[in-house]
Amino acid sequence: MTTSVLSDLKIRCSQAIAAAFGTAYDNYDPAVAPSKDAKFGDYQCNAALGLTKKLKQKPQDVAAQIIANLQVDDIFEPPTIAGAGFINLKLKLSYIETQLAKMQKSDRLAIAKVDKPDRVIVDFSSPNIAKEMHVGHLRSTIIGDSIARILEFQGHEVLRLNHVGDWGTQFGMLITYLREVYPDALTKADAIAIGDLVELYRAAKKRFDEDAEFKETSRAAVVELQAGGAEAKLAWQLLCEQSRREFQKIYDTLNIQLEERGESFYNAFLADVVTDLRETGLLQEDQGALCVFLEGFSNKDGQPLPLIIQKTDGGYNYATTDLAALRYRINEDKATRIIYVTDIGQAGHFAQVFQVAKRANWIPETVQTTHVPFGLVMGEDGKKFKTRSGDTIALKSLLEEAVVRARTDIETRNPDASDEFKQDVAEAVGLGAVKYADLSQNRTSNYIFSFDKMLALQGNTAPYMLYAYVRVQGIGRKGEIDFASLDAAIHLTQDPEIVLAKHLLQFAEAIDAVAEELFPNRLCQYLFELSQKFNQFFEQCPVLQAEESERISRLSLCDITAKTLKLGLSLLGIRVLERM
Ligand code: ARG
Repeated sequence: MTTSVLSDLKIRCSQAIAAAFGTAYDNYDPAVAPSKDAKFGDYQCNAALGLTKKLKQKPQDVAAQIIANLQVDDIFEPPTIAGAGFINLKLKLSYIETQLAKMQKSDRLAIAKVDKPDRVIVDFSSPNIAKEMHVGHLRSTIIGDSIARILEFQGHEVLRLNHVGDWGTQFGMLITYLREVYPDALTKADAIAIGDLVELYRAAKKRFDEDAEFKETSRAAVVELQAGGAEAKLAWQLLCEQSRREFQKIYDTLNIQLEERGESFYNAFLADVVTDLRETGLLQEDQGALCVFLEGFSNKDGQPLPLIIQKTDGGYNYATTDLAALRYRINEDKATRIIYVTDIGQAGHFAQVFQVAKRANWIPETVQTTHVPFGLVMGEDGKKFKTRSGDTIALKSLLEEAVVRARTDIETRNPDASDEFKQDVAEAVGLGAVKYADLSQNRTSNYIFSFDKMLALQGNTAPYMLYAYVRVQGIGRKGEIDFASLDAAIHLTQDPEIVLAKHLLQFAEAIDAVAEELFPNRLCQYLFELSQKFNQFFEQCPVLQAEESERISRLSLCDITAKTLKLGLSLLGIRVLERM
C-alpha cells in the first residue's frame, strides 16, 4: 500500500531542503505540484525561487543543492532544472508499471489508509420536521454523503449526523393549530400524511403571523413542550415520526446512511451555554436579551451585531443549539474535525457560531471546524427551482422522474430486455445522474437542474462514466476474460497507454484533494478525464486483437480503469452496472 506520489514527493523534497540548508528549513513548503504541461515532466518542485532570497544564492544553484539531497530514483528519472530553478520530475515507466500491478491486485487500488485517523463529524442533510425536504436538503444530502464516504475510505472514523430541525416555535404553533382543527393528529399515529402535515404547517404559520392570541397560545405550548409536558411531548413525537418516515424514503432511495441527532437532543445543554458564556465575560444584556457582540459583523447602521443566545422570553435560538452541539461534539464525541454541509446562505451563521466558540475557548487547537457551503439549485429558466405553479418541487417526485426518464431511454435502446433489468438500469442511471450532476459542479456556485443534461450520454455526466465502465465489462465478456485471474504484467509502450497509466496513478491524489478541500467535483473531474483517456486509449490501441503479451498488459489497463471508475463512483454514492 502506498500514499499518493504527490504526498510522497512532498515529504522527500521537504527532507531534501532541510538536508541541504539546515534545520531552519525543516518545515519549509517544498512547493511541489503536478506539472501543468507534460513537457516539464510529471511533477515540479518550485521551492528554489523562494529560497534564493533567504539564502542569497542563484535559484539554479539552490535547485542543484536540493537535487543533490533528493532521493527519488525509485520513482523518477534523474531530476532536471529548467528556467529559474524549477526542478522537473518525470515518472519512470518501470515505477508506473509496478504500481499499476499493485493497484490491480488490491480492492483499494493499493491506496493506504491514513496513519492517524481523525474522528470526523459530517453534519449533513438536516431537514426540518413538519416541513418538506427541499432541493437544498437534497444537495446537502448528496454532498455530505460523498464527503463522508471519502473520509471513511481514507480510514477516518466518521460520524454522520442528521441535525434535524425538531425543536422550537414551529411545534408550539403546529400543536396549537392541530388542537383546534384536528386533535386526532396529536394522539394517534399515522393520522396525517406528510403532505397534509406540510399544508397544516402553512396554515398554522399563517394564523401565527396574523392572530395575536394564537401566537400567545403557541408560545405557551412551546414552553409546555420544553418543560416536558406529557401531552405536548406525545404530539411532538407523533409529528416527528411522521416526518421521519417520509425522510427515510428519500434516504433509502438514495442509499444514504445517517444518524439522527436533532436539535432537541441538545435542549438539555442550552442553559449551560448561557452559564459558561457568562463566565467568560462575553455575554451582555441587550434590551432584555442575552447576547455576544460579534467582531467583524455589523448591522445597517454600522453598529456591532449581537448574536442572541437567549431571547427576552427565555427562549433559545438556532445558534444557541449549534453552540451546544459544537461543545457536545468536541467534549463528548471527541471529534477533531467537524464539517457542516449547508447552503451558502448559512455561511454567516456558522462564522458567528465559530467565532463565539473560539472566543470562549471552546475549540481546542487540535479541532478543526469547517462550513461547507453550496449554492442554489436553479430551474432551466435560470430562476429558483420551482414547479410551474410556483410551488417548491417535492424531492420524491423529482427522483422518480429521473428514474422514469432513464427508463424511457433504456426502453428505446434495449426494448427486448427483461423488465427487471430495465428497472435496475433505470434506477442506477437516473439516481446516479442526479447525484453526479450535483457533485460535478463546483459546489459554491448555483447549478441549473436539467434532466436532459444530466442524463446525456456525452459529456461530464453519470451515464458517460457508467458507459466507460460497461465498455470494459463488454470487452471482458467478448474475449471471455476472467479479470480476477489476469496476471498483471504491465508493459507500457504507446503514448495513449502511458497517458492513461499516469492518470490511473493519480487517483490517490484526487481522493486526497477532496478529503482536504472538500470539493467532490475534483473527483468527478478526475473520473471524467479518466473516461476520456480510456476511450482514447481504446480507440488507438487494439486490446483483444493485440498479440499475447500486449494483450494481457492492455487488458490489465482496462481492468484497472474499470476498478478505478467503480471505486471512484462509489465514493460519490453512485453504483455501476455490468451492462446497460
Ligand atoms: N435544519 C437546518 C436547515 O434546514 C440545517 C441544519 C444544519 N446543521 C446545523 N448544525 N446547523 O436549514
